[in-house]
Amino acid sequence: MKIAKTITELKDFLGSVARDKTIGFVPTMGYLHEGHLSLIKDAHAHNDVIIVSIFVNPTQFAPGEDLDAYPRDFDRDAQLAESAGTDILFFPNAVEIYPNGSSTFVEVEGSITGKLCGQSRPTHFKGVTTVVNILFNLINPNNAYFGQKDAQQVAVIKKMVRDLHMTVTIVVCPIVREADGLALSSRNVFLNPEERSQALVLSQSLAEAKARYNLGETKVKILKEQIINLINTMPLAAIDYVDILDFETLEDIETITSPALAAVAVRFGNARLIDNIILD
Ligand code: PAF
Repeated sequence: MKIAKTITELKDFLGSVARDKTIGFVPTMGYLHEGHLSLIKDAHAHNDVIIVSIFVNPTQFAPGEDLDAYPRDFDRDAQLAESAGTDILFFPNAVEIYPNGSSTFVEVEGSITGKLCGQSRPTHFKGVTTVVNILFNLINPNNAYFGQKDAQQVAVIKKMVRDLHMTVTIVVCPIVREADGLALSSRNVFLNPEERSQALVLSQSLAEAKARYNLGETKVKILKEQIINLINTMPLAAIDYVDILDFETLEDIETITSPALAAVAVRFGNARLIDNIILD
C-alpha cells in the first residue's frame, strides 16, 4: 500500500495507474471500524485500484463540536486499510486540502440538507459536499463508497452528483452493527459502559417501528411516537431528532406509501449517535 500525504504524491501514484483501470474510492475520517472495512472490501471486489482517504474535515464541524476530540490513530488505520485491500492511502493535512485563501464551497440547498442533522448542524453538509468534491476532483474515481448509516449524507451526495453531472457512481453499503445491534461508529469510543448499554435503544426502537410498519401501521405520527417513547425510557438519552421522511427526497410525509427513512439522532454524554432504518 502506498501512502500519499500530499496532493503531489497522490498525483504521482495516480499517474502510474493505467487508464483502463477502474478506481474505487472510500472517503473516511479515519479511526476505521468494520463499517469502513466493509466499504473498502466492497470497493476491492469491484474495482482495480482502491484509494482510501483519511481526513478529519474541519469544515464539516461547527465551532464547539468534536473536531479536536474526534478519535485518531493513523498507524492502526493504515494497517487495517492495507489488510482490507487498499492500494493508495491518502492522508492529507488541512492546509493541503484547504490552502491559504481557499474560499470556495459546494452546497446542496433545500430540505435535503435542512432536515435531520442539518437542523442541529446547519453548516455540516456544506463542509461534507465541499470536501467530497475536492476529493472527487483529485481522485476522479469510477465508484465511491459510502455507508447507509449516514443516510442523509448519502442522499445529499447523490443529489450533488446528479445536479453537477458528475460521472462517479455512488455505491451505498449496509449499516454494520455490533452483535447486540449498536451501529458501528467512530464516536462509540466516547460512550461509557452505562451509556453504551442504553444506546442499544436506538436500533431497538427502529426495529420495533419497522415491525409495526410490517404489521400494517403506515401513519408517520404513530410510528414516530413509538420510537420517541421507547428512547425516552433511557434516562441518559437526550433526543436530537426522530423523524420519518421520504427516503429519496427527505420531504415530510404523513403516511408511508413509498420507501421511507426512519432516522434518529440521540446524545449520550459526549457522544451524538445516529441510526436509521428503511421502511419499504
Ligand atoms: O462520512 C464521513 O466520514 C465524512 O463525512 C466524509 C464523507 C469522509 C467527508 O468528510
